[in-house]
Amino acid sequence: MNIIITGGAGFIGSSLIKQLLDTTKHLVLNIDKVTYASNPLTIEPFKAHPRYFFKQVCISNHEAIHSIITEFKPDVIFHLAAESHVDRSIDSPDIFLKTNISGTFNLLDSALKFWDEDESNKDNKRFIHVSTDEVFGSLKADEEAFRESSPYSPNSPYAASKAASDHLVRAWFKTYKLPAIITNCSNNYGPFQHPEKLIPHTILNAIKGSAIPLYGNGLQRRDWLHVNDHANALIAVMKHGATGESYNIGANNELSNLDLVTRICTALDSAFLTNSKPANLHSFADLITHVQDRPGHDVRYSMNPTKINNSLNWHAKTSLDKGIETTISWYLNNSKWLEYFLEKNYKSERLGNY
Ligand code: NAD
Ligand code: DAU
Repeated sequence: MNIIITGGAGFIGSSLIKQLLDTTKHLVLNIDKVTYASNPLTIEPFKAHPRYFFKQVCISNHEAIHSIITEFKPDVIFHLAAESHVDRSIDSPDIFLKTNISGTFNLLDSALKFWDEDESNKDNKRFIHVSTDEVFGSLKADEEAFRESSPYSPNSPYAASKAASDHLVRAWFKTYKLPAIITNCSNNYGPFQHPEKLIPHTILNAIKGSAIPLYGNGLQRRDWLHVNDHANALIAVMKHGATGESYNIGANNELSNLDLVTRICTALDSAFLTNSKPANLHSFADLITHVQDRPGHDVRYSMNPTKINNSLNWHAKTSLDKGIETTISWYLNNSKWLEYFLEKNYKSERLGNY
């Protein structure tokens, strides 16, 4: 099969490419604009692979996307390219609307035109739209975890743009019979995540001896999934998912930001000998600093993955303890990868401070 992945130079897309190259015989074409969020070192190892192809193109470029799809003739399109950081969506919402909404429309339009013209059966094709739990909004403490049927209630410009793109995908399925599936996943963590996101940001600031910023009271709750488990779930959806359906993906790892950051600090304490910590630091947890809250901050996300567990027999494999341990060790051993961002486009500054 021929598979297109958009956003394959990013955090989740690169994990998906690796798994597809390692575990299948399919051809994989990565379409990525290579924005500030991607790091050339992430996709460097794929370049020598005979089944990997790369086009540095914006998903909103109609002509380029149409001709790539016509030439490559994809059986499956995994759509991950997006502006993905909530804080940046507060600072500059316009690019989120362009990429996440118009860019998705452009892909849907080109995929439909190609699959409608193609003589082979449209039913065997798949457009898998990778979305987020954030479209469902914020849960109260006593509310049940999000299900596929939970109402959409997005609160940040990022979440609103992803919700809009989900609606477009649904409409293209209903109206034009585009063979589409939507996945909504909880917070991902693991190697290759941009250091603007909570877990790498915490590790980076800790090893620099800088304050570890916790927004507001730090009691907001997120539901964490290892990125390789997410990639594995997407492959299960490709193989066995039903068109017109959506699947919630998660691992029931809900905890507060304060608990998570404290766990990371404790793990770092064990990873470092006392004398290699910054001077006067008893524990890395001493660096945790409460800062001004994120505007419109969602208090709680929690995913119910029963549907994908039961209907596709997919289950997350990575425990949170093991996943955090290996993630910390990856960041400690990949300073070159981190330095690319620090030199190029990220000074560890506070974002989303409207
Ligand atoms: P990321 O920011 O690490 O990567 C996004 C990739 O998309 C980058 O390589 C970037 O260069 C590319 N891109 C951005 N704009 C583009 C454009 N106009 N044209 C082509 N490429 C473009 O994001 P991620 O964390 O890997 O997220 C991937 C997808 O998964 C997103 O759609 C996101 O909404 C969704 N998602 C993320 C999480 C999470 O916790 N990170 C959870 C659920 C869903
Ligand atoms: O839930 C899925 C979403 O998870 C994805 O759709 C998004 O693409 C992804 O970026 C992520 O969004 P979050 O806003 O949940 O992730 P972030 O890492 O930015 O923040 C996680 C939590 O930590 C959130 O409650 C805000 C808080 N936070 C974040 C940073 C960067 C802090 O307290 N301090 C920080 O420095």
